[in-house]
Amino acid sequence: MPTKTVSKTAPPGAAPAAPVPFDLEDLEGVGTTTADKLREAGYTDLMELAVASPSDIAEAAEVGVALAQKIVNEARRRADVGGFESGTTVLERRQKLGRITTHSKALDELLGGGVETQAITEFSGEFGTGKTQLGHQIAVDVQLPPAQGGLEGEVVYIDTESTFRPERIVDMSRAAGIDPNEALNRIHVARAFNSNHQMLLVQKAQELARERPIRLVVVDSLTAHFRSEYVGRGELAPRQQMLNKHLHELLRFSDTYNASIVVTNQVSSRPDVLFGDPTRPIGGNIVAHAATYRIYLRKSKPPKRIARLIDSPNLPEGEAVFSLTGEGIRD
Ligand code: GTP
Ligand code: MG
Repeated sequence: MPTKTVSKTAPPGAAPAAPVPFDLEDLEGVGTTTADKLREAGYTDLMELAVASPSDIAEAAEVGVALAQKIVNEARRRADVGGFESGTTVLERRQKLGRITTHSKALDELLGGGVETQAITEFSGEFGTGKTQLGHQIAVDVQLPPAQGGLEGEVVYIDTESTFRPERIVDMSRAAGIDPNEALNRIHVARAFNSNHQMLLVQKAQELARERPIRLVVVDSLTAHFRSEYVGRGELAPRQQMLNKHLHELLRFSDTYNASIVVTNQVSSRPDVLFGDPTRPIGGNIVAHAATYRIYLRKSKPPKRIARLIDSPNLPEGEAVFSLTGEGIRD
């Protein structure tokens, strides 16, 4: 018997796109074999099918594109997506925007009040500029009550470089007044072994978010696997295409669960085929389009770091100075 995907309790302040209860087999043209293949590929709820591209579905279910299109259309009809929504609905969703403090007033101000939900925030910079420390700090801070700058939420932490350190969480949570064991329990860490696995982990995060109040996804680093796997000029287009897909899946997560997405990005240390400028973050215009807030970090007199907001849609460009301390990020 196929298991029903049942909508669980919506996370606090979630945007209205929670999973709709249904059986894949209920869709016209979907038999047991096709349903199993779709489930295997991670298509477990209606919304995921509704926003999928027919060619992805055709590949996942090993069916023709025409049938895949029919399946997607049916899912769209049932999930009631693809149409217009009123400005009021958009406004209501915007009003649910949450913010997470970084524990640095200056950096919070630069971000317009902290790291925003329903958005991707990118921290880029060369090695040692504090990207991973920021990922840890925000993973602690999201757990705080709203009055202290948090969202009382839990975290999915996608670690691609094996740099997640529970010891740092212990230090930072103590300093923030949170029980370290509880803090660690609320952070769900997965090591991504390659870019494919990294993308799969976003699907896993969706499954987890149906049961746990996940309000933050950290991807540290967003681009490292993509960069090392797709090398050379011929690989550029596929790399950008996969990175684009990954970012859009993350964005969709942030909308569905009113969550913040924090990604880190190295700057290219040598001019490569795509990014001639050695201080440009990897991923070029793909990341530029998907990330709502882009912060470029550079070193200053230790332990200080300078954060610069680059191409934000609604905030003035500016800089903030913060410090990397034993207790975490501070002014
Ligand atoms: P890459 O991942 O290599 O690109 O660098 P990153 O930008 O992620 O740098 P990361 O966040 O790892 O920053 C490393 C810096 O954080 C160190 O050089 C220290 O200045 C600081 N740091 C890390 N751990 C501690 C700690 O336990 N105590 C203190 N005081 N500072 C720390
Ligand atoms: Mg790092």
